[in-house]
Amino acid sequence: MILELNEDQKMIRDSARDFAEKFVAPVARQLDVTQEFPVDLIKQAGEMGFMGVAIPEQYGGSDMDYVSYVLMMEEISRHCASTGVILSVNNSLVCDPLLKYGTEEQKQKYLKPLAMGEKIGCYGLTEANSGSDCASMKTVAKKDGEGWIVNGSKIFITNGTNADTFIVFTSTDASLGNRGITAFIIERDMPGVSVIPMHGKMGIRASGLSELVFEDVKLTDEHRLGDFNKGFKVAMTTLDAGRIGIAAQALGIAKGCIAESVKYSKERAQFGKTISNFQGIQFMLADMHARYDSARLVTLKAAFLKDSGKNYSLYSSKAKILAAETATFASNKAVQIHGGYGYIKEYDVERFFRDARITEIYEGTTEIQKLVVSSTLIGR
Ligand code: CAA
Repeated sequence: MILELNEDQKMIRDSARDFAEKFVAPVARQLDVTQEFPVDLIKQAGEMGFMGVAIPEQYGGSDMDYVSYVLMMEEISRHCASTGVILSVNNSLVCDPLLKYGTEEQKQKYLKPLAMGEKIGCYGLTEANSGSDCASMKTVAKKDGEGWIVNGSKIFITNGTNADTFIVFTSTDASLGNRGITAFIIERDMPGVSVIPMHGKMGIRASGLSELVFEDVKLTDEHRLGDFNKGFKVAMTTLDAGRIGIAAQALGIAKGCIAESVKYSKERAQFGKTISNFQGIQFMLADMHARYDSARLVTLKAAFLKDSGKNYSLYSSKAKILAAETATFASNKAVQIHGGYGYIKEYDVERFFRDARITEIYEGTTEIQKLVVSSTLIGR
């Protein structure tokens, strides 16, 4: 068993770390305050090849593997989880299904500019009354001659405010439940499409959250992604990969919490010595790092299985459970170690604490991941 990164993987990790330190860290706090989508930063990330890490060069990507994608996501999210999720959605929830299910024409037209970072993508699955039970969606695509007419709306859409290309799931035969869902590619500038920004999030405040509304949006069959009525599998397999990205984002948050806590504990003096001398603090740091390391191994294993062409659904769910709970745990301890200073915006751990929380919710809650894991253990 080889647990060493190869040279390419080390290279992308180092370049992502360098990029994050130089360009992401200095603006992260401000992005959290303004809630503005980091347009220029994402353009720069695209130029670095971070918008389509595991997409082949012929489709505009960096032609690297999913382990590399995890490493990139971790380094960026260590400083800014908003930037992390923007990249994750573009890479795994948009580029991935276009590569897997798209026609050659769709790959040239949509995937290439997305993987190059010239365009931004979003993933429209969730609706106001259809979250964990995503198959109960009410957005409808009705056959209209050779084409389709879409009506409905999607909510909590990361990147929505700035996305050009949307992957949207629709009900094409409500009587068939999850076997009556079809995926489509919808463009922002199509007549009948509107984007309504959503504000007031607890964390990842710069990730362009929005509602997408579709009113008689006319599509041709060239916009269909994958087979008719097979969209649920497109959604699920896409989320399998997406969950690896969110696990990596959560690892980045935990890594930031550990780094900031180690630093602070060596600076802050109480009772005549720095607090790093107290076992109460040492035990917290040790617990944070032990959980981070174990979650990281499982996340890298999920990515490694994907790279090896093996089934990775179980491991991506396990990775998301462990990494998200680690981010929550580590950010809670980081605030505790910082004491009163951890509770104010002057220190990054206050932001990390708020950012961590969503990793247990989006792309399938921790409870949904536990259902996926347990159903492979006991069957259903
Ligand atoms: N890969 C391939 N096929 C899969 C699959 C997978 N990972 N998971 C399920 N399927 C297949 C099943 O095999 C089954 O196939 P058949 O009909 O041929 O038997 C079919 O799909 C239906 O499966 P289930 O009966 O298990 O479906 P379900 O309706 O009970 O749902 C679920 C299962 C796991 C709860 C699923 O609905 C789910 O994952 N829900 C969570 C939704 C979610 O993650 N939303 C995130 C929104 S996106 C987001 O958050 C983006 C963002 O902002 C960053």
